[in-house]
Amino acid sequence: MSAGGTGTPPGRFVVLEGCDGCGKSTQADRLARALGARGRTVCPTFEPGATDLGRDLRRLLLGGPHAVVPRAEALLMAADRAQHVDTVVRPALERGDWVVSDRYVGSSLAYQGGARGLGVDAVAAINDFGTGGLVPDLVVYLRAPVAVLAARRSGPADRIEGEGDAFLAAVAAAYDALATAHGWAVVDATPGPDEVAVAVWGTVVRELAP
Ligand code: TYD
Repeated sequence: MSAGGTGTPPGRFVVLEGCDGCGKSTQADRLARALGARGRTVCPTFEPGATDLGRDLRRLLLGGPHAVVPRAEALLMAADRAQHVDTVVRPALERGDWVVSDRYVGSSLAYQGGARGLGVDAVAAINDFGTGGLVPDLVVYLRAPVAVLAARRSGPADRIEGEGDAFLAAVAAAYDALATAHGWAVVDATPGPDEVAVAVWGTVVRELAP
């Protein structure tokens, strides 16, 4: 992990990324358990909304009464992330924990930078400010075809999930391009959760030797 001006903390920072419906939350949970079983101290977390401030930001972003323009959406996601990094992620890394986060900057690059059309560079810049330059040790992108993701939709969608199939396809295309550009680990999220968990674990073992 490379960090901003405050030094490189000793823990490890693993992020799971992917479109809505890729099974990311299940896999983040499985990975956290696997690391715990190997004797690691794990800080499982997520974005948006893992802090007190973040819970309110999440409500405003996903279920609030107000329309949210794309630049406001990007800035509020980055604000959530700034609070998350300073009060949860960086303290855990300083303690030497393994942080497993369900989403991080990559989500903003894909959703706001790509699908909302704000541009990856602009969104990366506000996130660099928001995070103080903290980047993960490993990003695992759980990839599935758009048709598979759309078929997995169930229950009431939040404001961003409810954008429809064209938006979902744009997010997926943005993730594919980002994964290539940044060298993220790509895991096929099409099989059942057990098979995907084995693949995620194999990736983490290969890349970070927990
Ligand atoms: P998430 O909590 O992963 O969804 P769920 O409640 O279904 O588990 O994310 C909520 C939504 O926020 C999701 O549609 C992705 C979106 N999002 C962004 O658009 N940008 C971001 O930076 C983040 C972290 C999430």
